[in-house]
Amino acid sequence: MSEQSYANYVDLERGLVSRDIFFREDIYREELEKLFPRVWQFIGHESQVPNPGDFFVSRMGEESVILCRGEDRQIRVFLNSCRHRGMKVALYDEGNTRMFTCPYHAWSYSLDGKLTGVPMYDAIYAGRMDKSDWGLVQPAQVTNYKGTIWANWDPEAPDFLTYLGDAKNHLDLALDSRDGREGGSEVIGGITKWIIPCNWKLPAENFMGDTYHNPSHRSVDMIGIGPSARADVKGRRDNELAKAHHVWISFPQGHGVHSAIMPEDEEYVESFKDNPEVEAYFRRCFEERRKRLGDQSRLRPFVGTVFPNTSFHGNQPRSIFVWHPHGPAKIEVWRFFLVDRDAPPEVKDFLRRYYMRYSGPAGMTEQDDMENWNYATAASRGTIARRYPYNYQQSSGASRIDQPMPGRVSEQVSEENPRMLYHRWRDYMEGRDWDVLLGKNDPHFQEAK
Ligand code: FES
Ligand SMILES: [Fe+2]
Repeated sequence: MSEQSYANYVDLERGLVSRDIFFREDIYREELEKLFPRVWQFIGHESQVPNPGDFFVSRMGEESVILCRGEDRQIRVFLNSCRHRGMKVALYDEGNTRMFTCPYHAWSYSLDGKLTGVPMYDAIYAGRMDKSDWGLVQPAQVTNYKGTIWANWDPEAPDFLTYLGDAKNHLDLALDSRDGREGGSEVIGGITKWIIPCNWKLPAENFMGDTYHNPSHRSVDMIGIGPSARADVKGRRDNELAKAHHVWISFPQGHGVHSAIMPEDEEYVESFKDNPEVEAYFRRCFEERRKRLGDQSRLRPFVGTVFPNTSFHGNQPRSIFVWHPHGPAKIEVWRFFLVDRDAPPEVKDFLRRYYMRYSGPAGMTEQDDMENWNYATAASRGTIARRYPYNYQQSSGASRIDQPMPGRVSEQVSEENPRMLYHRWRDYMEGRDWDVLLGKNDPHFQEAK
């Protein structure tokens, strides 16, 4: 692997990023070799595979993988590629099976990935091939974090929580129950999947807290599609954060979030007014969460990206996205919608409908984002357009690390988070070691208090 310098593409001192990294095929190929095989990637949620034999076909980078629960109830991840000629052994998006039988020559694999069946084995393979050497390929590391399953191909990579660092506190806000109990989320069935012609890094940076793009959503904000829309509350969501202090935080590992801190004397803001049962549920959750977490309950989720391509919406609409790469200027977006496992069916159904109004290819809000990424891509990729870098100078020098909360914190809308994303991106592309990739000695995070 070449140790090419990417200094020409990412110039953080001047806040410039070359358009080439969003369009060039050779740079994209390098990402698939140098970045995706080393990072932790979101695969799915344990609630998608509740029973032995349940499987869900996911992706890591461009490659198909299978999330599967074995007879022993263990969750495993396999590369969805037969060891004989590489055929997919799971052709459906999800299902339940007793084994994975390859459609091509019918080698079959047990739910723990072992090669168990080979047609005509005694006659043509015995003494030539040891089946135990030819099981399905598995990532070096797989972890279950509060029900979310993550995997990594790199045996040298740090464990998931080390990789996540202090971004954990913010991801938790999406994963924990609304009443403050740890975990307890589940995915509503039916993952929304669609293709957008743009580079995967564009939405990844947007979800680090590009609040600056609010004008894009002006039309939907004028009509109102939120959980209190029928009660004439305008906007994409209820304005629960009207009195919040907003923070944009970057982390040494390349993650970035936009969260909010409510005032000490916070009072419940009536929300979900379109349905009294749902409103009562969230009111109760608010009160229980405050009792359970005390002052900590003031931290509220908004959005964030776990480096490099998993993002989350912490509350309205609560979901996890993956920006799966499909080439330099094409992604497949997967949106997983989260609800409290213990919530009444009425609440889950209400949220499902709200999520659909907001999100996905037909969602009123997401259409705006897609249009931006689509046409920004079309207008940026030409020979002349690519000579001009993108501008990442917003609020440079305006973030600090002397805040009570860990990370580099900006109290005004800022492009510090994407600057740090591209800083780390460059480190992966230059083949740095894990100390560098985790930002252990990064001066951006070491100013004197
Ligand atoms: S490719 Fe799977 S059995 Fe031949
Ligand atoms: Fe948006």
